[in-house]
Amino acid sequence: MSQEHAVPGGLGDPALDPVGVAEPGAVTIVVPTFNESANVAALLRQITESVPSRLPCEVVFVDDSTDDTPEAIRRAAQDCPFPVTVLHREEPAGGLGGAVVEGIRAATSDWVVVMDGDCQHPPALVPELVATGERTNAGLVVASRYLEGGSRAGLAGGYRVAVSRGATWLAKALFPRRLHGISDPMSGFFAIRRSTVTADELKPLGYKILLELAVRARPRMVAEVPFVFRERFAGESKSTAREGLRFLRHLTGLRTEAPPARMVVFGLIGLTGFLPNLAALWALTGAGVHYLPAEIAANQFGVAWNFLLIETLLFRERRRHRHWADRTARFALLANADLVVRLPLIALLVGRFGMTAVPATALALAITFVLRFVGTEALVYLPRRRRPRRSTP
Ligand code: GDD
Ligand code: MN
Repeated sequence: MSQEHAVPGGLGDPALDPVGVAEPGAVTIVVPTFNESANVAALLRQITESVPSRLPCEVVFVDDSTDDTPEAIRRAAQDCPFPVTVLHREEPAGGLGGAVVEGIRAATSDWVVVMDGDCQHPPALVPELVATGERTNAGLVVASRYLEGGSRAGLAGGYRVAVSRGATWLAKALFPRRLHGISDPMSGFFAIRRSTVTADELKPLGYKILLELAVRARPRMVAEVPFVFRERFAGESKSTAREGLRFLRHLTGLRTEAPPARMVVFGLIGLTGFLPNLAALWALTGAGVHYLPAEIAANQFGVAWNFLLIETLLFRERRRHRHWADRTARFALLANADLVVRLPLIALLVGRFGMTAVPATALALAITFVLRFVGTEALVYLPRRRRPRRSTP
């Protein structure tokens, strides 16, 4: 990553030194850019007109461009009365969201405001977002298109509007508590207190960085301010259908972060595995195969089905630790061991503990299910990086 300070002064200027500034502090404006050379000058001009007189600021561009955006920023920064930094990334890890996290890492002020580089977000709102956070003691202030006084006028076309609606609804349905009080979790315009965020805990994936922050950083208080999502100044949106898929993966990842939630999804996937299992059993016995070998063969269809779903949905991010053939073998072994272990376990529960067949079978099913889940986690998809242990006082 290359870094350049385009213009010194501003926050470094003793007159605007954040240490000497009382309420509401200072702000670092983080702007992710991907080929926005025709927009950055207009954006910096708008920021210059509306922010520094009300709130000391610095601007950090995190750029993944393949065009001359960094040069365009450097040229435009000459006229800015605040420091402008360009972090150009050779490897655009995490896309838009990854860029924002880099920007937050580089920020030096108490408040970080994230906004797009195409002038769809009005810079005049930046001081208001921060002031609202200070006034309400919120850790996160979202600029929302869905509050009264806001609008999504600049969202190009009915298709984008429908997708945005659906995505908002889905996210709020999956995270009713953590997105409580956020009418626009898809917004790309928001202010966050730097103290609420630990950049290393974030796993951004594509566009929806606010969702990542709201769910993972869990600010205690959230406030919202309405805003009008304007038309792009120049160029076109970088959002694609691929971003849509990334969003779904991001949601699944966030939702299955906690082991209990993962176990529920693991169980639901297991239930759907009965279908291919029974279908194969029906076909094999229909073809005259004895039911015992047919059971064993049919079970493999269920196992294969479960494996595919678990690989693509549940453990997608953890597949790298092992070769796919290794994972397949381990998974198949565990899934079949399940069958082998269950019968002796039932016999033990009945013979030793005096249970009757049905509760013994139910208990054995539950035990082998949990064992299989734990075994699959530990033996097939061991996490790459262990969390640092909490030190107990
Ligand atoms: N560094 C970096 N890397 N910046 C990126 C990348 C990337 O991979 N992809 C896009 N950007 C930048 C763009 O250059 C722009 O400044 C900003 O991120 C938003 O990208 P757009 O392509 O203009 O997005 P949009 O207008 O379709 O979507 C915006 O509105 C949505 C709400 O409908 C964004 O703010 C979304 O986050 C938001 O959900
Ligand atoms: Mn845009």
